[in-house]
Amino acid sequence: MKYFIQIYGCQMNYADAERVSGVLESLGYDKTSKESEADLVVFVACAVRESAVNRLYGNGKKFKRYRLHNPNFKAVLTGCVVKKDREKLEKIFDIIIDIKNINELPEKLGIKNTDNEKSLDYFQIKPEHESPFTAYVPIMTGCNNFCSYCIVPYTRGREYSRPAQEVLNEITELVRKGYKEIILLGQNVNSYRPDETTDFPALLGKINEIEGDFWVRFLTSHPKDMSIRLIESVKSLPKCANHIHLALQSGNDEILEKMNRKYTKEHFLGLVKNIREAIPDIMLTTDIIVGFPGETEKQFLETGKLMRLAKFDIAYINQYSPRAGTASFEMPDDVSAGEKKQREKALNDLLRETALENNKRYMGRKIEVLIEKENEKYYFGKTRSFKDIKIRKGEIDTCAIGKFTKAQVTKVTPWALEGTLVE
Ligand code: SAM
Ligand code: SF4
Ligand code: F3S
Repeated sequence: MKYFIQIYGCQMNYADAERVSGVLESLGYDKTSKESEADLVVFVACAVRESAVNRLYGNGKKFKRYRLHNPNFKAVLTGCVVKKDREKLEKIFDIIIDIKNINELPEKLGIKNTDNEKSLDYFQIKPEHESPFTAYVPIMTGCNNFCSYCIVPYTRGREYSRPAQEVLNEITELVRKGYKEIILLGQNVNSYRPDETTDFPALLGKINEIEGDFWVRFLTSHPKDMSIRLIESVKSLPKCANHIHLALQSGNDEILEKMNRKYTKEHFLGLVKNIREAIPDIMLTTDIIVGFPGETEKQFLETGKLMRLAKFDIAYINQYSPRAGTASFEMPDDVSAGEKKQREKALNDLLRETALENNKRYMGRKIEVLIEKENEKYYFGKTRSFKDIKIRKGEIDTCAIGKFTKAQVTKVTPWALEGTLVE
């Protein structure tokens, strides 16, 4: 039996897909990259935009055709799905299953589950990682923040922190297998609190004590909960990579309030100042929404101003899209599509400048690189601060995919570095 998996959305869904694969492969399913030859198609859906949900409906006819050719064919939907959409999608998918209950998938497929498997919860399922050297490790599920534009609290439920020992066991096993990059995932890792004595900096401290040669980084941090202790951890823990993702969303206080973000631009800038002073080599990334209901030109310009001051390395700039079920859906979506597009472009142009300026400081430096792939002429990898780097191959030098090496930076562009091997 073969399965095909289609992933939409953010890293959270990629991590979910690795656990779905874990369940299916333990049942003897083999993964295929051809949807048409699969007995089981699993969609790991994203619900952030209405358009992404609407696209799911387009699969109905195709699934009907597959069922005609293969009586065993089944289509499964999981990931982020809202209750309201679920009722309509039941006509298209044979099984809709909450990602939290993915351990019940064998039963839903009519396959007898062992008692042991049945008792595993989402976190205890052994994932099948896509990469042999980079692994996502979810440390939390859900979100309690209810930003007014965001559907996630309605698809993922309330915040839950995974027990620290379970996280540590999973990472220890990954490092033992040779994994070099561990990416901790949660909607707001800063509110990780599995018990009264453990918080996120404490977890990072324990991860740092795991023996082995690896980097750890995390996504994502909510500015309202970012602590000085966390900044100190990133600075002082040798295994912590120099990367912080701090979602700004807007640089105007009125819009931030309407978004229910619970911080001000001053607070955000204060955090950036503390981070940059503590860790000059930090890679700072962010998310921004342009064209939120009522966002005036003047308010938008404040986001640009803040971006100039924060000097982000990467910013994921999203045009606001109203999502039924969220609080801002009730606010008039009054910034035109053309204006949203222009605002997005203006911020991307600005980002190109700050990103290039940041990258210039790497020129000539010798830095550690994790090699990810190669072609005839180049190795491609990531630096400790998670910059992409391209390394020209020499005549004799060889380095291995999935291993650390050292390179000297010879050229910089806004989105990447270039270099030569020094070892
Ligand atoms: N928890 C993360 C945080 O607050 O940093 C964000 C997770 S959210 C799934 C990813 C990004 O999607 C958000 O940071 C936001 O920029 C964007 N997003 C969410 N809802 C949106 C909407 N209705 N329209 C446009 N962008 C949206
Ligand atoms: Fe959505 Fe806000 Fe939660 Fe992030 S913190 S997932 S933007 S509600
Ligand atoms: Fe991510 Fe989309 Fe869910 S952005 S958390 S996959 S709604």
